[in-house]
Amino acid sequence: MTNETKLWGGRFTEKTAASVEAFTASIHYDSRLYKQDIAGSQAHAKMLVKQGLITAEEGEQIRGGLAEIEQEIEEGRFEFKPELEDIHMNIEKALVDKIGPAGARLHTARSRNDQVNLDIRLYLREETDRLVAILDDVRTSFVKLARRYLGAVMPGYTHLQRAQPLLVSHHMLAYFEMFGRDQERLLDCKKRINILPLGAAALAGTGLPIDREFVAKELGFPKVTANSMDTVGDRDFAVEFLAACTLIQLHLSRLSEELVIWSTDEFNFVELADSFCTGSSIMPQKKNPDIPELIRGKSGRVVGNLMSLITLLKGLPLTYNRDLQEDKEPVFDTLDTVSQGLAITAEMLAHLKFNTARLEDATKTGYMTATDLADYLVLKNIPFREAHSIVGKTVAYCVKKRKELTDLSLDELHKFSKVIEDDVFHVLTIQGSVDSRKSIGGTAMSRVSEALQKAEEELGI
Ligand code: ARG
Repeated sequence: MTNETKLWGGRFTEKTAASVEAFTASIHYDSRLYKQDIAGSQAHAKMLVKQGLITAEEGEQIRGGLAEIEQEIEEGRFEFKPELEDIHMNIEKALVDKIGPAGARLHTARSRNDQVNLDIRLYLREETDRLVAILDDVRTSFVKLARRYLGAVMPGYTHLQRAQPLLVSHHMLAYFEMFGRDQERLLDCKKRINILPLGAAALAGTGLPIDREFVAKELGFPKVTANSMDTVGDRDFAVEFLAACTLIQLHLSRLSEELVIWSTDEFNFVELADSFCTGSSIMPQKKNPDIPELIRGKSGRVVGNLMSLITLLKGLPLTYNRDLQEDKEPVFDTLDTVSQGLAITAEMLAHLKFNTARLEDATKTGYMTATDLADYLVLKNIPFREAHSIVGKTVAYCVKKRKELTDLSLDELHKFSKVIEDDVFHVLTIQGSVDSRKSIGGTAMSRVSEALQKAEEELGI
């Protein structure tokens, strides 16, 4: 392509080097912004007509031309040209070729610097809503599991050592909370995405009589940005978006790790559906948890994408710099990775089976009601530190005698504390332990039922 035919070719006498065209092109990834680019241009053109900057007829030609281009792209009939660099110039050039002089007026009072910012905001605005909806599916899967297994007990862990008994449903609702915070974060971030940048032009605003508020209304933005220089160099909203997505990915990864561990023979807490596992090419007996493993593995790229974007922004002088073109690939990659991970997790959870007999068995060893015994002593007026030490000695005795706390007789218990009475035996049971934890947010059946009901109301299920 000669520079005469390039939209910015006027001041150039030499042809752009082929290597430069290839190096600067972003069309192979920013073509995904075509819908947003066209929507932005349609609103911009409407405003130009209203302000008398172009005629109604020119506006009409632009409207029709852009609509045709959109259809061509949708039907795969549009030819994207790398020598036209990006989505903005590919569409604008196609418009000029299609409708002539009217097309050449579209870029009045606009720069690609505010245009690209607009496109990303429009795109992320939609994508945050889509992610929030998929998060609802994941949260629904957890709530359904919590309902299905209400009453089932399992060991709770700290340091991956058996700690205190829990309801399986309590564990499921922990993830319901985590993914709920993720939704809040996305919606909060959307407030800063949802501001119109168009009208900042190249960096300093424009001398032409535009109406930014009108464009904002057309595109459904509640506000317009306040400072043109800040606007064209701003990708903070994209960093926030990637940070929110990174936390989602970390939550997915932690869940995946648990599923991998729980599905080992050593734990045998859950059974992943055959349709969500794969086999080994050499070991016929294998059923591997590849889905959670892959999700866990994809955390690397998601964290990496956040680091890329942060590093990209560090040290950029105001205002727009071409470096900013590097913002899109990390954003798109994270978005694809996280939304895929969420969707498949929701599906996998719907097929997940807990091995409740095995879970209950696992609560029977590991002295998991030791804290309950200490709390029992506290209620008999023994200072907690002293109670801790008494129970510590009792556990050491059990380890030596190869007994569980529940195997001890009252006489044996009296060796450690005289205040212990018959009522201790209920305290030492798994059910007694779980049911005693009635503090707000605790694992008692009454609290978990309450939380579950609230969750179901929130999701409308
Ligand atoms: N493709 C560019 C980007 O993604 C669009 C803006 C280019 N602006 C410029 N003045 N070169 O950032």
